[in-house]
Amino acid sequence: MDQVKQMVDNRFQSDIPIRILGVETSCDETAAAIVENGRIILSNIVASQADLHAQFGGVFPEVASRQHIKTIFPVVQQALKNAHIGLSDLDAIAVTRGPGLPGSLVVGMNAAKGMAMGCGLPLLGVNHLEGHLYSAWLAHDGIEESIEQENKELPPEPQFPLLALIVSGGHTELILMHGHLDYERLGGTLDDAAGEAFDKIARLLGFPYPGGPSIQKASKEGNPKAFEFPRAWLNERWDFSFSGLKTAVLREVKKLEKVSQNLPVNDLAASFQEAVIDVLVGKTLKAANEYQVKEIIIAGGVSANEALRLKFKQDSPYPLHIPPIQMCTDNAAMIAGLGYYRFIAGQRDTYDMDVLPNWPLSEASSL
Ligand code: KG4
Ligand code: ZN
Repeated sequence: MDQVKQMVDNRFQSDIPIRILGVETSCDETAAAIVENGRIILSNIVASQADLHAQFGGVFPEVASRQHIKTIFPVVQQALKNAHIGLSDLDAIAVTRGPGLPGSLVVGMNAAKGMAMGCGLPLLGVNHLEGHLYSAWLAHDGIEESIEQENKELPPEPQFPLLALIVSGGHTELILMHGHLDYERLGGTLDDAAGEAFDKIARLLGFPYPGGPSIQKASKEGNPKAFEFPRAWLNERWDFSFSGLKTAVLREVKKLEKVSQNLPVNDLAASFQEAVIDVLVGKTLKAANEYQVKEIIIAGGVSANEALRLKFKQDSPYPLHIPPIQMCTDNAAMIAGLGYYRFIAGQRDTYDMDVLPNWPLSEASSL
């Protein structure tokens, strides 16, 4: 989309800052953020419900939507306060339209509609996965201090064509990005998402929710070579599969339980984590080579994994864009950042817009 690139360049050259409020409630984080020109984070508030859901061992949808209702307006108010602006200083409101939990999405959508209607602001419904991608455009240094530093230079933008790996609780997607808002899906998971596999194995090994950080912590005390778990390479395609790995870990646990009460949980966690990482890194680098991309973006909750980040840094000959850890998991800055690129490309939605709980990224690309 050269047109979008041109509009972005023009906008940066003119001195008019465009400020977008992002609203994100697709799962169990209630989040609001204000981002200027798609890159500068003026505020970023995330109210996590993780503690609330830990007792259920996973996200309880009904509890999630009730909690969003309680938290959404205080979170938005705090985002405005931290950015030192009011609703009337905004140019638009971007809200996650999907994919996500229907009841949770509706809360953010209705809040955004109410504010947009009340203040006469343009409203934009955006795709959550696309938001994860646009976290790569955010300038992360000194996140909220950036407002104080007017002359601060922005870090370089990701260069097209680029390859993006989105690894979250619900998705594992390999995307070729030709330009702004222009995607080609190469492949994705055929069964469990990478984050889902982390969460399920964590539960199997008796670790607390959320599973990814628990597995990461246990892995540091374990030997990744202790168990030789399978890697599904699916060589002729760019898809992923983690169900065979999950079954292999389950089978090993059952076998070990027959001979001892004390499971080597750290070794199991480390060996599982390494199997997931080998495939994610191996396939991404292979695709980057095949499609001759300039750079790679890694995004989504699992990109917070330290061992995954390290392996990419060690193995990748391509420049990498991996958000800082706190920006990998769900947040609204990525929604506001994406909102800017869609706003300047001309997207405007109407108040009868509904949520799209199963909205694939591929269907979000056209305006
Ligand atoms: O992007 P995200 O916050 O929500 C979705 O859009 O799904 O991703 C959440 C997922 C969870 O499955 C969680 O276990 C995983 O990201 N995750 C991690 C780590 N931190 C979060 N997985 C592995 N290592 C981590 N450090
Ligand atoms: Zn997410």
